[in-house]
Amino acid sequence: MKKIIVILFLLLIFLSACQKDNRTDNENNNKKDDVIENKDNEENVDNENKLDNNVLIAYFSATNNTENIATKIQNKLKCDIFEIEPQMAYTSADLNYNSDCRANREQNDDNARPEIKNKIEDISKYDTIILGYPIWWGQAPKIMYTFVETYDLENITIIPFCTSGSSPIGTSATNLKTSAPSANWKDGKRFSASASQDEINTWLDNYFKEEVNMKLLIDGSEVKVKWEDNESVKALKNILPLEINMEEYGGFEQTGKIGRSITRNDSNINVVPGDIVLYNGNQISIFYNNSSWSYTKLGHIDLSNEELNNLLNKDSVTIRFE
Ligand SMILES: Cc1cc2nc3c(=O)[nH]c(=O)nc-3n(C[C@H](O)[C@H](O)[C@H](O)COP(=O)(O)O)c2cc1C
Repeated sequence: MKKIIVILFLLLIFLSACQKDNRTDNENNNKKDDVIENKDNEENVDNENKLDNNVLIAYFSATNNTENIATKIQNKLKCDIFEIEPQMAYTSADLNYNSDCRANREQNDDNARPEIKNKIEDISKYDTIILGYPIWWGQAPKIMYTFVETYDLENITIIPFCTSGSSPIGTSATNLKTSAPSANWKDGKRFSASASQDEINTWLDNYFKEEVNMKLLIDGSEVKVKWEDNESVKALKNILPLEINMEEYGGFEQTGKIGRSITRNDSNINVVPGDIVLYNGNQISIFYNNSSWSYTKLGHIDLSNEELNNLLNKDSVTIRFE
């Protein structure tokens, strides 16, 4: 009997050890999953934060207002950033524009080219520079002239921005352009020192909006489309390739079922010939005449009314997204 009790006791110890091992294994597995999850998250972050390697933000900022905007631009684009640092930093006395200060003297001297302390090693790796500065007496500070004259900016796209108390960007960028005429200068924008991230993102969208890469063929012929930047177009892209048999309706459109529903954000819109819309979340309509209804616009075909009429004013067509 004693023997049996000892054996049972040993068995109990063995079983509880096994259980502990299992738990430790599970714990380890959970930890391992955490690491994988974190790694996945890191990868996602990396993807989201994908560097736009060809873009550089270069800015000068004496009192940090322009720097704040530059930082918000970088938040959005995750690109390289370079602060143009003066060899001789500007003191507050240098910036006291109500006096005969250094900044005023430089702005009044056509030949002033304040020295820059730091340098961009290889500017040729950038195809776009977002160039920021404060407005000084309606113009870019003279150090910005030093900057654009230091580098070969040929064929580099320059997108200027500035901050100011209240002045617009005015002629500041076009005057700066005369010192680097071979660059491809875009229109600039003035921000207040407190401009929001949203305001900056909207501005950047004008330049860096991703082109939607989706083809539309009507009866086998590709047509050029300007796609909308919305969730429905993204959802459509996710189910490519997609072929739809369309039928003429009402003397103004070809319409056909997708075969499933995709996300929509309908509103009453007046459609014009060439418009492609999502109807009811599960049908595509392409117009060759005007109409109006509650739709989500997907895009617009870049063809004349006559071409659209020839292409779409028939009993049926087959369209293919790819
Ligand atoms: C010398 C000097 C001249 C200025 N001239 C103007 C001007 O003409 N119009 C304006 O709205 N703000 C003017 N300002 C204000 C600055 O443009 C504004 O404070 C800017 O946001 C400063 O940017 P920062 O902090 O990046 O240097 C001037 C500031 C200084 C120091």
